[in-house]
Amino acid sequence: MELPCFKPSKFFGLHMNSLTYKCAAFLVIALLFRAVWLPRSSNFRGIPNSRLSLDPNLDNEKLKFLEVPQIVWGLNNQKIAFARACLTARMLNRTLLMPSLSASLFYKEVDQLRSISFDKVFQFEEFNARCGGFVRLGRYSEVSDTRDVFELQKGSGRRWTVEKDFQQLREFGKAPYDEYQLIRVVGKNPFVWHDHWPAKDYAKIFECLVLVEEISREADKVVSKIREIGVEKRSRVAPLQTMPYVAVHMRIEKDWMIHCKKLEHRLNVSEICSSKEQIKQRVGSIVGLETPIVMYLAVADDLLEDNSILEGWSEGLLPYEKKKLGVLDTYKKHPYLIQSAIDYEVCLRSNVFVGNTFSTFSSLVVLERTQLMMNEGVEQRCGIDVRWPSYAYNLEGESNGPRRWAANMSDVSLQAISYGSNHVSC
Ligand SMILES: *[C@@H]1O[C@H](CO)[C@@H](O)[C@H](O)[C@H]1NC(C)=O
Ligand SMILES: *[C@@H]1O[C@H](CO)[C@@H](O)[C@H](O)[C@H]1NC(C)=O
Ligand SMILES: *[C@@H]1O[C@H](CO)[C@@H](O)[C@H](O)[C@H]1NC(C)=O
Repeated sequence: MELPCFKPSKFFGLHMNSLTYKCAAFLVIALLFRAVWLPRSSNFRGIPNSRLSLDPNLDNEKLKFLEVPQIVWGLNNQKIAFARACLTARMLNRTLLMPSLSASLFYKEVDQLRSISFDKVFQFEEFNARCGGFVRLGRYSEVSDTRDVFELQKGSGRRWTVEKDFQQLREFGKAPYDEYQLIRVVGKNPFVWHDHWPAKDYAKIFECLVLVEEISREADKVVSKIREIGVEKRSRVAPLQTMPYVAVHMRIEKDWMIHCKKLEHRLNVSEICSSKEQIKQRVGSIVGLETPIVMYLAVADDLLEDNSILEGWSEGLLPYEKKKLGVLDTYKKHPYLIQSAIDYEVCLRSNVFVGNTFSTFSSLVVLERTQLMMNEGVEQRCGIDVRWPSYAYNLEGESNGPRRWAANMSDVSLQAISYGSNHVSC
């Protein structure tokens, strides 16, 4: 042990020459320091103070972490993947290290798959404040020993069943793996991981995702613009803040049409693809919709040049997309992921939403609207008279209109209600 750089003799005002005395003096001082320090920080064991001060409610020494690969694909696939990573961390009793999302759509721009930090899109502190006790997000700076890591290779392919995946996760929650400070999942994107959790667990995590202010302000601008047009057209007597509007998530672009035709063939169902004519006809037949009303069309950018999407709607439906609305510049400032997040907000806040049950975007909008109703104690969740009515245009409902749609929150898996299904629980 090396002696510190002070002179014990001067310190005590005594004359001590021999090494023995110096050591004895040092020991006394060291013991004094211990006695003063220890009661205040009982879990002090050489952990840097920065970690100790993070959260007084957590026993930091026990903090273990999970790291997942960069999250990819569309906004809502990324949200599902993120939730799945959170639920995996929860199952392993670990904190999820804040993952990277992707700003671009990777199947279109493979070479430009830009990563974007989670906290550039969603509020980090707010996430933990809302989800605390259920799941927790951590930062890389909290990991004290980055070498104390185990790499977990998740299986893939046909033979990697849900049961095998679940078994593997259970094992990784136990010894010897539970000893590692960090488990790093390597391999495929979390979106393609198996689904082991009920819909309500996903919904709980989605509720903790709050957009950063910069993005929600952009959505405010678009929503105000839509409502202002309602006022201009005197479509209803209502103050600006409550001027109602309809949002239609129109999936009719080429990529989607190819994808949905394949899906219809594979699943042997005919109610996935809707042509723009079918969408116009069904939305125009919603029973009880008060017109005239402004209608926001959430469409892919390729369709902004196609004027036919603005024509041929029933009288009283006043169609606008981002170009006609004059907000294209607001969108174009941002990468794909943020543009999609703005569109999502506009659809979420609409008075009446119409989408496709096979789209993750539409499905998560409906899931969130259903949850808003549940939080307000609304019992009846289907139809035009509810607080946040939603419809599916790919399914036929009453009077040739779209089918009423609400998410079944007691479903045992997310897939059954949020994509790849036409269950509307109405
Ligand atoms: C997680 O922690 C809880 C309570 O501390 C415990 O009951 C459970 O067995 C733990 N699970 C795993 C996988 O370690
Ligand atoms: C597809 O569905 C139709 C009607 O639902 C049924 O009659 C037909 O046998 C099915 N085809 C296959 C290959 O499952
Ligand atoms: C919701 O899901 C549960 C579990 O799968 C099922 O028992 C119930 O019938 C569903 N309810 C509706 C209205 O579809």
